[in-house]
Formats: sequence, structure tokens, C-alpha cells
Amino acid sequence: MRNSGLTKLFHPPLERLFSFPPTMKAPSTPTIARVTAREAGSLAALARDSFLETYGGRTDPDNLRLYVDTHLTDERIRTELETPGFDFQLARLADEPAGYLKLRRDRRPKGIPEGNCLQVERIYVLRRFQGSGIGSTLMDIALRSARDAGDSVVWLQVWAQNAEAIGFYQSKGFRIYETAAFEFGNERTEDFLMRFDIPY
Ligand SMILES: CC(C)(COP(=O)(O)OP(=O)(O)OC[C@H]1O[C@@H](n2cnc3c(N)ncnc32)[C@H](O)[C@@H]1OP(=O)(O)O)[C@@H](O)C(=O)NCCC(=O)NCCS
Repeated sequence: MRNSGLTKLFHPPLERLFSFPPTMKAPSTPTIARVTAREAGSLAALARDSFLETYGGRTDPDNLRLYVDTHLTDERIRTELETPGFDFQLARLADEPAGYLKLRRDRRPKGIPEGNCLQVERIYVLRRFQGSGIGSTLMDIALRSARDAGDSVVWLQVWAQNAEAIGFYQSKGFRIYETAAFEFGNERTEDFLMRFDIPY
């Protein structure tokens, strides 16, 4: 039986479903691995690039530079990598650093007086890699890590004006429960505290 136009519409040739035009790269799965102190330099470069990309043009440039030069230096990140209780996970796509996750266990936020808790201190994906599931994969790692450790809550602090990130966190089941101040360079910004209660 010859293919009718309708049949072709619903049954496009397999090569059309699975091939990509020459200018488009086939999507690949990110690889995620814990970062070691030896990789401090490349992690710090990714941390600076993704931070500047996220907040550049949305905040005072001097404060932005001050924050980056204080908190995202190679030395600072190397020290954190060597500190127990800190965990950095790096996502690579086609071998390129694409995003990272920073977890820590040394802090307790206001409003969570008891129970073990895990902080997602940073989760950043470079803009050109956003929307392809890397943030979700990193967040899955955070939630799995909390569950494996028997934590009751995962919490995070987010700039109140970062609506995209807040939407992402809400889509993962986090809820805003408090406000908090954040020292950003020479200014104090208003942040939200968000929490995810681990169901057991
Ligand atoms: C927030 C961020 C980490 C998400 O990572 P990502 O790789 O782009 O996210 P994903 O591709 O995994 O998409 C995640 C899911 O969240 C949802 N989502 C993303 N943004 C959303 C929004 N604004 N509102 C609602 N849902 C949203 C998507 O629909 C998607 O859902 P699905 O998996 O059901 O389709 C990333 O966009 C980022 O790095 N942003 C800039 C840095 C930043 O602001 N970090 C947070 C600092 S506190």
C-alpha cells in the first residue's frame, strides 16, 4: 500500500525523527561529578561567568564586581572544596562545563530550629545550556543527597527579584517561608528563604 499524505504526517521517516540539521547539535546527556580541589580553577571560572551572566545588568556593577572578587576567587573556592561539609557537583555537556551545584551542611536558617538540614547554596547553569534539564538533574542530586543523609529539610536563599529561579524552585516543590537580608557588595538585598520538606 502506498503512503498517503496523512500517513506520512503521522509516521515521518525515522531518519527525520532522529537526525539533526548540520547546524544543530544533537542534545546529549550531562555528566555530573563531584568536584575535587585540583579543579578549583575551572570551577571558579564557571562560578564567576554564571554569576556575572545572571546578575549583570540587573544590579549595581560595582557591587557585582566586589562580590565576585571576594566570594568567587580561585583561592576561596579551593578552600571551600577542602572544607568538610561542602559539596560541589559539576555538570558537563559534551565535555564543556555547563553548570554546578554547591551544597553545604554547616548552616541553619531562621525558621528551621531542629532536624538535619541541607542548604542548596548555589545552583547555576550557563545561559546557553539552560532549559535542557541540567538544573533539574542537579536539583535531583541535592534532594537525593538530603534523603540519603536522613535530612528533614532542604533550604535555600534566593534574591526576591529572581523570579525565574523562584519559579524553578517552586516547580521542584520548594515553598517560600521567610524573608532574609543578603549582603551583596555594599548593599543589602531582600531575599526569600525557601524550603523543601523531605517526605519519608
Ligand atoms: C534556575 C536554573 C538553575 C534552572 O536550570 P535549567 O537547566 O535551566 O532548568 P531545567 O532545564 O532543568 O528546567 C527545569 C524545570 O523547571 C521549570 N522552570 C524553569 N523556570 C521556570 C519558571 N520560571 N517557572 C516555572 N517553572 C520553571 C521548567 O519548566 C522545567 O520543568 P520540566 O522539567 O517539568 O519541564 C537555571 O535557569 C539558572 O542557572 N538560572 C540562572 C542562575 C540562577 O538564577 N540560579 C539560582 C540562584 S538562587
